[in-house]
Amino acid sequence: MSAPTRPKRLTPRHIQAMKGSDPIVCLTAYTTPTARLLDPHCDLLLVGDSLGMVLYGMETTVGVTLEMMIAHGQAVMRGAGKACVVVDMPFGTYQESKEVAFRNAVRVLQETGCDAIKLEGGEEMAETVGFLSARGVPVLGHIGLMPQQVNTAGGYRSVGHSEQEGEKLRRDASAVGGAGAFAVVIEGTVEPLARELTGLIDVPTIGIGASSACDGQILVSDDMLGLFNEFTPRFVKRYDELGQRISRAAEEYATDVRSRRFPGPEHTFKPRS
Ligand code: KIV
Repeated sequence: MSAPTRPKRLTPRHIQAMKGSDPIVCLTAYTTPTARLLDPHCDLLLVGDSLGMVLYGMETTVGVTLEMMIAHGQAVMRGAGKACVVVDMPFGTYQESKEVAFRNAVRVLQETGCDAIKLEGGEEMAETVGFLSARGVPVLGHIGLMPQQVNTAGGYRSVGHSEQEGEKLRRDASAVGGAGAFAVVIEGTVEPLARELTGLIDVPTIGIGASSACDGQILVSDDMLGLFNEFTPRFVKRYDELGQRISRAAEEYATDVRSRRFPGPEHTFKPRS
C-alpha cells in the first residue's frame, strides 16, 4: 500500500522556519472563492473570527461560535492550495481550561482539515499553548491588542505606550513563544516594542498594526480590498476599493434591467431550429 500523498500546503513548521528570512505574507480568508484568489500569493491564510464583524455584521467578535469557525474553515480549505491554513478559536472555546481548549481545537482540526489554530492571550494562556502544542495541535499565538477582550479593555486601542504595558507584552511574548507556539501575531502595538518583541522570541512574529519590524504581516482582506467600510484602522492600507466597484456594478445592472437593456439577445435562449 502506498503512503497517502500529503497536501502540498506549507505547514506550521515551514512558517516557523521563515523567521529571519523572507517576510511571511498572511491574509484572512473566510470563503472558498476568496481562498482560491488569495492562496497563490500568501504563505498563510487565517480564517479569523473577524468574520463575525466583516461577514455577519456583528459589533464585536465575541458572538462568533465554534460552528461558524468550522463551517468557514471547511470553506477555506476547499479553496486553499499551498498556504498554511489557520482557524481562529472563538471567544469562550479555550479560556476555561486547557482540556476544553484541546477538545475544541481537535474538533477544528478534524472537522476542517486545517493546519493549525490561533488563540488570543499572553502569559495567562501559555500553559494552554504548551498543552496543545505538546499534543499535536499547532498553535499560532496572538498578543497585543486582543479583540476578544474588547469588553474588559473598554474598546480597541493600540498598546505598548507605557513601560508597564511594555513589560506585560515582553512577558506575554516570551511566555507564548516559549510555550511552543509556532508563530505569534502581534496586533496594534507601538513600533519600538514590536521590534523588540521580534528580537526577543525565537518564533516568527506576524504584525497587524505592529510596524514593518515583524517577521510577517497580516491584514483583514476585506479591509485592504475596500470591502469593509464600517471603520478603517490606521494600520490598514487600502489596495483596492472593491466596495465602490460592486456598488457601481449593481447600479449599472439595475439601470439595464429597468430600461430592458439586460438581458440582451446574447443572454437569451432561442428555440432549437
Ligand atoms: O480575526 C482576525 O482576523 C485576526 C487578525 C486580525 C489577526 O485575528
